[in-house]
Amino acid sequence: MSASRDFFRERKAQAVFKHAILSRYPVVFASKAGRGRPVVFLDGYAGRGEYEDGTPGSPLLLAQKATRVSSFRQVRGIYVERNDEDYQNLKRVMEQQGRPQDLVLGGDLQNLLPDILPVTRGAALFAFLDPFGTALDRNQLVRQLLNRPGSAPTEVLLHISISTVARMGGLLRKRREEGKPLSVADEKTVAHANRFLGGDWWQKHFAPVAGVKDQRRATDAALAVAAEYQAGIRADARCKSLSMPIQHKPNQLPKYLLVLFTRHVDGLWWFADAVGKAGREWEGAWLGAELRQAKTRAERNDTDALFTADELLPAPEAFDVDSYVQQNRASWERIIEQNIQRLLTQSGPFVLADRLEEVYAGVFGAASSRHVRAAIKSLHRQHVVQNTGVGDNFHRQLIIPVRPITRASA
Ligand SMILES: C[S@@+](CC[C@H](N)C(=O)[O-])C[C@H]1O[C@@H](n2cnc3c(N)ncnc32)[C@H](O)[C@@H]1O
Repeated sequence: MSASRDFFRERKAQAVFKHAILSRYPVVFASKAGRGRPVVFLDGYAGRGEYEDGTPGSPLLLAQKATRVSSFRQVRGIYVERNDEDYQNLKRVMEQQGRPQDLVLGGDLQNLLPDILPVTRGAALFAFLDPFGTALDRNQLVRQLLNRPGSAPTEVLLHISISTVARMGGLLRKRREEGKPLSVADEKTVAHANRFLGGDWWQKHFAPVAGVKDQRRATDAALAVAAEYQAGIRADARCKSLSMPIQHKPNQLPKYLLVLFTRHVDGLWWFADAVGKAGREWEGAWLGAELRQAKTRAERNDTDALFTADELLPAPEAFDVDSYVQQNRASWERIIEQNIQRLLTQSGPFVLADRLEEVYAGVFGAASSRHVRAAIKSLHRQHVVQNTGVGDNFHRQLIIPVRPITRASA
């Protein structure tokens, strides 16, 4: 079975995470960046449109969101898929959406992008790049997409496959240790990675990695590669970025990063909010998958058990997002309060939206903007900060302590 067919058979917990982000963030983008101009949602690696059980994939989600905002925003969807069988399915699925303004294109994004970009001229562009493995060449991402001509906002949500970079780096180490050349197929994969990352600089990060089996160090090296890659893009495209590591389930190595590149602090702020809400859906998804597996195992192994699996284990669908938030919000808010106090001590007054990694440290992908607001309100009640946490723009205002704070010495 091809990777693609396998992928679209059943949606995994890590895909629930990205789709839960896509169910939220593009709506905010269209509302904010689309004031006074049209909007384009580009899904460059669209896939089949939906999973075999009918669960919507990314292009369907984007089309649904575009329709949702259609009373106040004019949004056009552009969906690209290279694999012909997936493209045929995608076309069929998207035709049922009744959105004649959308374009469904079969082919390689790399080749099609120069023809797509003129269509997006003057429109606020949100591009979702979600390949298997590595994505668009760095040059194209920066020069053609992020630095496209005109002043309309451009944002890119990029999937960086940590498992792919880790695997390739580990393989390179192994072959060098063995003194063996790479196979033709491996040469091709490494050349692709070099184009995606913009050179072979990334290979040096794998020096401490023992080989393909040294997964922890290979993952750390891949994360360091992703951090350097993002810093380079930020510099070359004069933008900001925020990234969320996505795991299969808690305490596992991250499979991939979802990175938002944007020029607006509001982009980062609302992305962090969407990531927090998405993380709760992911909690339900991995827990549900675990319970289903546990039930299957119990039924297979112990047919004579005194209690049936159904009596022993909660139903997979029993996870309730609202009660999960209720149970955790006090501790999330406490952690955010501590983070804010630490930031004030370390660097003095700061703007929340500029320091999101530190503000959300320990609760990123769980807490959302309302918990940051609650933390500011609580710090105000405790006479720690002057800010009240009231108003739409509290995330853009300088957080000022009530009493001068002695800075921590370096
Ligand atoms: C991870 S899947 C996409 C899943 C989809 N974004 C979703 O969330 O439902 C990646 C897809 O990208 C397609 N693809 C790979 N390379 C491509 C390229 N260069 N141009 C366009 N599509 C490509 C693959 O055929 C595959 O269907």
